[in-house]
Amino acid sequence: MKVLLINGSPRANGNTAYALEQMAQVFAAEGVEVQTLHIGNQAIRGCIACGSCAKTGKCVFDDAVNQAAPLFQEADGIVVGTPVYYASANATAIAFLDRLFYSTSFDKRMKVGAGVVIARRGGCSATFDELNKYFTISGMVVASSHYWNSVHGRLPGEAAQDPEGIATVRNLAKNMSFLMKSIRLGREQYGLPAYEPRVSTNFVR
Ligand SMILES: Cc1cc2nc3c(=O)[nH]c(=O)nc-3n(C[C@H](O)[C@H](O)[C@H](O)COP(=O)(O)O)c2cc1C
Repeated sequence: MKVLLINGSPRANGNTAYALEQMAQVFAAEGVEVQTLHIGNQAIRGCIACGSCAKTGKCVFDDAVNQAAPLFQEADGIVVGTPVYYASANATAIAFLDRLFYSTSFDKRMKVGAGVVIARRGGCSATFDELNKYFTISGMVVASSHYWNSVHGRLPGEAAQDPEGIATVRNLAKNMSFLMKSIRLGREQYGLPAYEPRVSTNFVR
């Protein structure tokens, strides 16, 4: 059982890292192997819609996206942590996610996904929704907690002063562990659902 943690903050030891570390502790206790990738401090450009990935199966820009792809393929779940910037995920995290999800064609169905957002004060819900869009267009299962997955803090370390936020992400990791284990059993017993043939209608045609 493996989970991939993505730190979308430019800060290696900021509040996003703190929240993800809390989750990593829970995963370790649950016997789930954790791999953490810090991508928020890297120069990750956005998708250029070149279509190269459709031919080669990987992104034309050989950076953290291509490094993460096989880890994501192997993983039973993924957690994307990002600081909130102007009521959105930070730009690097979005560039990374656009390219990771668009350039990889492996089956993501029933992998478990969770977004974790960190803010001083506002924009958490919008950012949370933004992250969940990647999972819910991919046949993935979104894990939840007893509150939306947000932790508050501004300066590095301040997240530790938000016990409700920390409890939220720790419970999220517990729920994710349960889901990943349950889905593993379900896949073995029932297999994945057979999908309808793919149709792309571009709205009208
Ligand atoms: C460019 C920028 C934009 C930000 N926008 C918001 C915002 O919209 N809402 C908010 O509450 N905090 C905002 N913040 C504060 C960060 O979300 C906050 O400091 C967070 O803890 C940073 O996480 P990190 O330590 O993991 O980098 C912003 C910070 C920066 C640098």
